[in-house]
Amino acid sequence: MPDSEHRTIGIFGAGWVGLVTGACFAELGHRVVVRDVVPGKIAALESGKPPFHEAELAELLERNRQRLTFTLDVGVLAAAAPEFIFVCVDTPPTYAGDADLSRVWTVVEELPRLDGHATLVMKSTVPVGTGEKVRDGLSTRGLDLGYVSNPEFLAEGRAIHDFMHPDRVVVGAFDDADGAAVAALYEPLDQPIVRCDVHSAEMIKLAANAFLMTRISFINEIANVCEATGADVVKVAEGVGLDHRLGPHFLRAGVGWGGSCFPKDSLALKQLAANSGYHFQLLSAVIEVNDLQKRRVIGKLQRHLGSLRGKTVALLGLAFKAGTSDLREAPSLVLASRLLAEGVEVRAWDPVADARQLIHGATFCDAYEDAVRGADAAVIVTEWPELRDLAKPEIRDSMRRPLIIDGRNLLDPDDVRAAGFAYEGIGRPTSPLDVLPETPEPADAPKPV
Ligand code: UGA
Repeated sequence: MPDSEHRTIGIFGAGWVGLVTGACFAELGHRVVVRDVVPGKIAALESGKPPFHEAELAELLERNRQRLTFTLDVGVLAAAAPEFIFVCVDTPPTYAGDADLSRVWTVVEELPRLDGHATLVMKSTVPVGTGEKVRDGLSTRGLDLGYVSNPEFLAEGRAIHDFMHPDRVVVGAFDDADGAAVAALYEPLDQPIVRCDVHSAEMIKLAANAFLMTRISFINEIANVCEATGADVVKVAEGVGLDHRLGPHFLRAGVGWGGSCFPKDSLALKQLAANSGYHFQLLSAVIEVNDLQKRRVIGKLQRHLGSLRGKTVALLGLAFKAGTSDLREAPSLVLASRLLAEGVEVRAWDPVADARQLIHGATFCDAYEDAVRGADAAVIVTEWPELRDLAKPEIRDSMRRPLIIDGRNLLDPDDVRAAGFAYEGIGRPTSPLDVLPETPEPADAPKPV
């Protein structure tokens, strides 16, 4: 890109979306000023450390150090005279389930007067209609700012890759010139750019996430029926996903979805519909299926261990998915608190996520080998690659009972059983003989004929 095409970009919010956006635009040659209100975050970034774990991010920040500024001061951002101001603040749910836009409004209030025309680019996930309200807010303040909705589709753990190789870029604008200017920032990525109105751009983001969640809840329900009927959901998903009309993605059955986006975005869309007078029945079911799915592991443990009181269970993986340290709405949190409530001694392990402030009463282990030692069961909650070789003889011998509940279908059931473990995945056939050998037969059980 010639130098004349290098822009100055301001970013509000140094969270996942803000930092990845900033680092990637810097990598594309632009000058970027990232502003956040949390002093610890800015201090960490100034000393070259991203405040969370994300593949390649640290290297990207380091490589583009000269083009990146981190600040607490909105004045520093204004002094750089950015042509684009990306809003990447979080929009958590309110008690009513709507998206809390207070941080977005704080940005609108704090925006300094800039020399010349600039464009406010909304990356935060917001309800449909937000753009219109923000545009009104900007004009009430008399600011000469265009408005573009440019939702983010990156997934944690592969965020840099997703930014640099997006399936599509969505640009919704009130004014064609503003939309064209934002679209031009993404042209070097050479991917489809969907240009539309602001309302549609806002809805694309919510609809895409809702559809992904629907696929997961769908395959989780199929998994539960597989368990009741002896089919194997991994094979079913493979066979279903090869249909080009359906595709293979987001058909991995497991302990349910979590994270910083799906739980809040599902509620936000449900409430957006409800506030507009529409009952979004399918989405309500998708959410309920997910809530129940997180708890099904408890029933599996009870099937093998009977009463859980006094038993020891190792929770392997705490992050809401592999490749991230993020614990927001992680299924591990639900599982841990249910197990603790049942009187279980919970041992918890994760290679990067630190849940000490969120799970009280569990023992945290630095190595998964320590978590499973003497345990009655090991539950794979997050699909960390290092757990692939869990079913080895030294682990079997170190456990009080060699039981693995595989909440992510990470392991091969035949291999695990051949290694002398009792094994249960999600939606995979379970033999009635697969319960642990030491489960005593009731004295009055009828004799097999
Ligand atoms: C998700 C979307 O994938 C991104 O496109 C979107 O930008 C982002 O939300 C957002 O709105 O900001 P993310 O939450 O980082 O990204 O993670 P995903 O990889 O989508 O996984 C979400 C949850 O679904 C995880 O708990 C994961 O374990 C679960 N999942 C995913 C399954 O249970 N099965 C699957 O087949 C896929």
